[in-house]
Amino acid sequence: MTGLRTLVRAGAHTLAQAGIASADVDALALAAHVLRVETSEVRRRMVLGGDLPTGFEDAYAAQLAERARRVPLQHLTGRAHFRRITLAVGPGVFVPRPETEVLVGLALAEIDRLTGLGREVGEGGGGIRLVDLCAGSGAIAFAVKDERPDTAVRALELSDEALAWARHNRALLDLDVELVQGDATLPCFADWAGTVDVVTVNPPYIPADATPIEVEVRDHDPGLALYGGGGDGLAIAVRIAGVAASMLRPGGLLLMEHAESQGGSLPAALTSAGAWTEVGDHLDLCARPRVTSARTASRGRLMDAD
Ligand SMILES: C[S@@+](CC[C@H](N)C(=O)[O-])C[C@H]1O[C@@H](n2cnc3c(N)ncnc32)[C@H](O)[C@@H]1O
Repeated sequence: MTGLRTLVRAGAHTLAQAGIASADVDALALAAHVLRVETSEVRRRMVLGGDLPTGFEDAYAAQLAERARRVPLQHLTGRAHFRRITLAVGPGVFVPRPETEVLVGLALAEIDRLTGLGREVGEGGGGIRLVDLCAGSGAIAFAVKDERPDTAVRALELSDEALAWARHNRALLDLDVELVQGDATLPCFADWAGTVDVVTVNPPYIPADATPIEVEVRDHDPGLALYGGGGDGLAIAVRIAGVAASMLRPGGLLLMEHAESQGGSLPAALTSAGAWTEVGDHLDLCARPRVTSARTASRGRLMDAD
């Protein structure tokens, strides 16, 4: 019988030949998935050797073949890791990306800033309020709730399928986040109007004529999650920003993810909309512009400590 080390190395070679940049990592992750262990355990068994379960070789070959035809790794394993949580994902929902973790970090920093200013948290739901629009799997909303459990978190998603994944994840993670189906370009969460501290959004933002090169994205992420409308891909994002402005309290913070190419155009669009101050942009871990931040005009300097 062929050993695990040989099989994983051959698997990585197969994936590399299929043009997959992360071939080594993916070959390891698929072996872990088939063996139902963590990747650290696969590495251990690759060094120590030992018998493989009956059927492993065939099952692993089948997974590698699917990955080689560019089915996303996360659809095969059914899992996506995001900050401290693991989300269930599959067809019908956008796979959360590492760059979105930066947006979550900015949201947590704002929650910590408000907490430092003495804002009460967790009292009858009357504490710091965050709304996540375009929730998808729930990655942003659940990561915030996981890391700052006293924050009151609500999330909105349009797609039936994505919302079903988000509900499934809420049950798996056992997090108290309100999930609502709706269109983020229209007013929502009316009972929180003008009171929200942070709105997070990772909207669809790809221009209609800029079909993604990556097969995994083009063929497997839902179109509703990708294409943002308008020549620059920002039509939906700008409409959502308008909704966010009416939801936020004075001095409240909008954090919106965008494409690398939109680090100038999205801040410019928000600035010209007039509702925003302190418009800025933030880099991801690869130093690419990926998140625009903006505040609603404050009634006064003391507003941040309301
Ligand atoms: C890029 S994905 C982001 C998903 C998730 N927030 C994340 O970061 O992984 C965009 C999501 O927005 C949803 N969406 C698109 N248009 C929407 C709209 N008008 N209102 C609400 N959700 C929308 C899509 O279904 C998709 O789940």
